[in-house]
Amino acid sequence: MKAIKKGFASDNWSGVCPEIMEALADINKGHIFAYGEGEEEVSQTAFRKFEEHFGKDIKVFFVYNGTAANVLGVGHLINSYQAIVAAHSAHLNEDECGAPEKFIGAKILEIHTDNGKIVPEQVKPFLSSIGFQHHSQPKVISISQVTEMGTVYTKEEIKALADFAHENNMYIHMDGARISNAVAALNTDFRNITTDVGVDVLSFGGTKNGLMFGEVVIFFNKKLAFDFEYARKQGMQLHSKMRFIASQFTQYLTDDLWRKNAEIANNMAKKLAKKISLIPELSISNKVEANGVFVLMPSELIPKLQKHYFFHVWKESPVYEGNIPMKEVRLMCSWDTTKEDIDGFIDLILELV
Ligand SMILES: Cc1ncc(COP(=O)(O)O)c(C=O)c1O
Repeated sequence: MKAIKKGFASDNWSGVCPEIMEALADINKGHIFAYGEGEEEVSQTAFRKFEEHFGKDIKVFFVYNGTAANVLGVGHLINSYQAIVAAHSAHLNEDECGAPEKFIGAKILEIHTDNGKIVPEQVKPFLSSIGFQHHSQPKVISISQVTEMGTVYTKEEIKALADFAHENNMYIHMDGARISNAVAALNTDFRNITTDVGVDVLSFGGTKNGLMFGEVVIFFNKKLAFDFEYARKQGMQLHSKMRFIASQFTQYLTDDLWRKNAEIANNMAKKLAKKISLIPELSISNKVEANGVFVLMPSELIPKLQKHYFFHVWKESPVYEGNIPMKEVRLMCSWDTTKEDIDGFIDLILELV
C-alpha cells in the first residue's frame, strides 16, 4: 500500500502507535464477555488504571469518539431547558454538526475569545438569566483542554472556573480530547488539573495521541454518573467488543505512554514554531503551548505548500499585511512527527517564499 506523506493536518491523521497496536494484537485472542459486562477482566483492569491516575472516587465509561463523550457526558448533567456555556471555538459548539443541540436539545451560550480560553468574568453576564423563566438556565461550563486554539489552561484557571461554576449551582465539563498534551505541557499529572480542582465530568481522549479509536467519559462524582450506562446505550455508544477499547487505554496509561507520545507532539510543535518564527514572511498568530501551531502566511503560498504537505486553513477570510493577503492556518504535530518532517516542510517554505 502506498504510504501517505506526513503532513500537519491534525493529530488524528497519524496512525496507531506501536505499543497500542501490540496491545490490540495481544487482546485479540479467545472469547470474553462482550460489552465489558459482568466482571469482564479487560475493562476492570482499565478501570483500575484510571483510578491510579484520577483517584478512586470516579466512574469510567468507554465510548467510540470524542463527540459522543462530549454529548453524552454533558447531556447527563442537564435538561434541555438548561444551557451550556462554552467558548465559540469549542469543538462542542463548532465541530459537532449540531449533535449537542439535537441530542441534548439545550442551548449553547457562546463566549468569543481569541485564545480559546474563557474566564469567570465572561460567564458572569449569563447568570442574569437564572430564575428568569423566559431564558435557558445556564448549568454547565464546558472548557477544552488543550483549547481548539492550541492554548492550555493552568490549574489555577481551571480551579477559578470550577469554583465559580459550583458557587452558582453549575457544573464544569472538560473536553479533554488532548488532555495528555496539556498535562505534558504543564509538566504535571492528570489529577492536578481535574480531580484536584473540581472538574465534574471529563471527556478523556486517546485517538489524537496514538490510539486507534475510543474515548472515555469520566465522572468525578459517582452520583452524577447515575444511570449513565443506559444513556450510553440509548446514545448508541456501547461498544460490543469492548476489550478493544479497554485494552488500548490500559496500555496508554501504563509506563507513561500517554506522556511520551504527547511530549513528542508538543516538542515538535515548539521546534516547528521556532523555525517558522525565523521566516520574515510568516508569523505565529497564537501562543504555542501544546502540539498546535497557528500561523499567518501569504494566501498564495498555501495551495503550493498543500500540494506536498496537507494542513488546514483556520480562517478563510484574509487579513492584509501591507497589500499582501494573509490567512491563518493550523499546523498540528503528532506522536509520529519527526524532525525530518519539520525540516522538509521548512525547506519547502523557504524555497517558495
Ligand atoms: C477539541 C476536540 N474535542 C473533541 C474532538 C472529538 O472528535 P471526534 O468525535 O472526531 O472523535 C475533537 C476532534 O477533532 C477535538 O479537536
